[in-house]
Amino acid sequence: MAIHWLRERFNAEVITVTVDVGQDDDFEEIERRAYAAGASKHVYVDAKREFAYGPVAMAIMANALYEDKYPLGTALARPLIAEKVVEVARREGCDAVAHGSTSKGNDQVRFNETLMALAPDLVIIEPAKIWGMDRASEIEYARRHGIPIPNIHSRFSIDDNLLSRSIEGREIDDPMAEVPEDAFKWTVPPEKVREPLILEIEFKEGLPVAINGERMDLVTLITTLNKVVGMHGFGRVDHVENRVVGFKSREVYEAPAALTLIEAHRDLEKIVYTPLEYRFKKIVDQTWTDLVYQGLWHEPLREELELLIRSMNKWVTGSVRVKVFGGLTVLGRVSPYASYSRELVDYVGGWYPSEEEARGFIKIHTMHSLTAFRVRRGVSK
Ligand code: ARG
Repeated sequence: MAIHWLRERFNAEVITVTVDVGQDDDFEEIERRAYAAGASKHVYVDAKREFAYGPVAMAIMANALYEDKYPLGTALARPLIAEKVVEVARREGCDAVAHGSTSKGNDQVRFNETLMALAPDLVIIEPAKIWGMDRASEIEYARRHGIPIPNIHSRFSIDDNLLSRSIEGREIDDPMAEVPEDAFKWTVPPEKVREPLILEIEFKEGLPVAINGERMDLVTLITTLNKVVGMHGFGRVDHVENRVVGFKSREVYEAPAALTLIEAHRDLEKIVYTPLEYRFKKIVDQTWTDLVYQGLWHEPLREELELLIRSMNKWVTGSVRVKVFGGLTVLGRVSPYASYSRELVDYVGGWYPSEEEARGFIKIHTMHSLTAFRVRRGVSK
């Protein structure tokens, strides 16, 4: 519909682009609709591998959960989609680009940031911000101009890709209302699950490479995990999120693979890293995650953080065994780089500090705190 509107309003020739980041769409149908609405050319870009090995891989290595909950699916895909649109615009010699974001969401920020970074000369047109139509008048507009109306399968606002499915709007906007079951598509409710699922996930340098011994590329691995884990009742997120634009919204997601991989990855990191590394990386991870969520993909700090995240992940090799049964439980973990020693931890016959060593350690370790404690009690210096 935007196609028709753009042609009328700007007397423009319109080239449409669909960037495939793993969303569950009928791409032929989209192309048919584009031409029916008056596009002079339609371009399909398969960016699934680039999405998986680029932003998604980094999100796994960074344990990216916005506000401890949302694995960033939508946010990760937007800069890449915009980048692909710029490539097409350049090839086709366009002087403007258009996208369908409204003025209330985060995605307008993410799209425009990338467009402004990569193609400051291109005019950005955002029809949904200009045309002032609500849903009913949009349908009326489409009817009037003989534009085929897409089958909308859901009454909610959905955005999906390889990593996650975002669900917004309608009755979900009431943060106290339970999310209706028909909002979900990738996951079954935990109470429907009979058998636990046990998976062994193998990681190499921070990225998952095999499940139960079977090696897979990242696109296949994530797709597979989304199916099997979702079928076992795990992968839903429901929280109230602080948007970039100044208000909170209730957000629901399905992301079985992302939640499983992040949980397993974080567990493996913990057996490998020193306490200082573990604690410091959390801050780095969270900063990276916030920056991506906020649509600041081209903020130079992102790449600087990624150098560290990547470098620290070179030790994150090993396997994690998890059980999915409603929730997710880690059953075990192993890594050739584990800084874990059974000899040190063993209560029976393992290493023990001598009494003198232990007392000396405790005395000096507690000295700062106990000195201050005594001073404030007025006891002594
Ligand atoms: N709140 C999420 C984000 O900002 C998801 C937005 C998804 N968009 C949608 N139309 N459902 O990344």
